[in-house]
Amino acid sequence: MKFTNMDIISMKDFSRDMIDHILDTAEKLEPVARGKERSDILQGLVLSLLFFEPSTRTRMSFESAMVRAGGSVLNMGSVEASSISKGETLADTIRVIDGYADAIVLRHPKEGSARMAAEYSSVPVINAGDGAGQHPTQTLLDLYTIRRESHLEGIKIAIAGDLKYGRTAHSLCYALSLYGADITLVSPESLRMPEEIIEDLRSHDINVYQTSSMEEVISDIDVLYATRIQKERFPDPTEYQKVAASLKIVPQLLDEAKEGLKIMHPLPRINEIDPQIDETPHATYFRQSFYGVPVRMALLSLVMGREP
Ligand code: CP
Repeated sequence: MKFTNMDIISMKDFSRDMIDHILDTAEKLEPVARGKERSDILQGLVLSLLFFEPSTRTRMSFESAMVRAGGSVLNMGSVEASSISKGETLADTIRVIDGYADAIVLRHPKEGSARMAAEYSSVPVINAGDGAGQHPTQTLLDLYTIRRESHLEGIKIAIAGDLKYGRTAHSLCYALSLYGADITLVSPESLRMPEEIIEDLRSHDINVYQTSSMEEVISDIDVLYATRIQKERFPDPTEYQKVAASLKIVPQLLDEAKEGLKIMHPLPRINEIDPQIDETPHATYFRQSFYGVPVRMALLSLVMGREP
């Protein structure tokens, strides 16, 4: 399986065998990611981080992965402090950074920007989120979390929240279709998953149900994947309040849940999960954000030709 120099742009670029190989590699590297074992697999390599939008987890877990595996990081810092504020284009910025690093991680508000950057770069470009498009490394760590904490094959999962604009939900649905998942989409009518994604899932023989009620599905699922409801997209604040209240995960909702139900969230959460849930065995979201480190370490070692 050839990963060296591969650009990581969309989950659609991955077969199931490729995903399994990345997850297996991440499992091997998890002790290094936890700081329990030492490794120099990325020694002498430099990773550049270009974030045109805010990030905590993606940016810092890439940094942690690189540093714990012996590599170094060049962070462009804020857009205001860079020459982009003088009007430099993304294409020129990429051409320049290509000479400073062995791989580039890019988060940008424009859909398609990572694919475009890859055309100007001789080193691998990793998409860390391109507008409402894809966030493939989030999906890989979500799959790792599901495999590590539950099971992937035939998983019964409900994905809840803003399914219209949420890029993590789009990438995750596609990837789960490779594992025969049974998917329930929970959202208000106005934030339903785009029809082309649902058609794509059905063309892969995936069972997809849509509902607005969490109560309707809670007793039947292995994983509840919550996503942020994007308040800024609601013209009427009272509409937002209604939706946010109807999809909030509160302790009473879990009365009917399976004992082994895992609750996931890409974070940051706003009001989607009551903090009381944090103390229950269902809360998986903070471990999920840690799993970003072994998964990104695995991906970096594979694309930079240092497979452990
Ligand atoms: N999950 C995620 O992408 O988080 P950040 O925006 O903090 O990177």
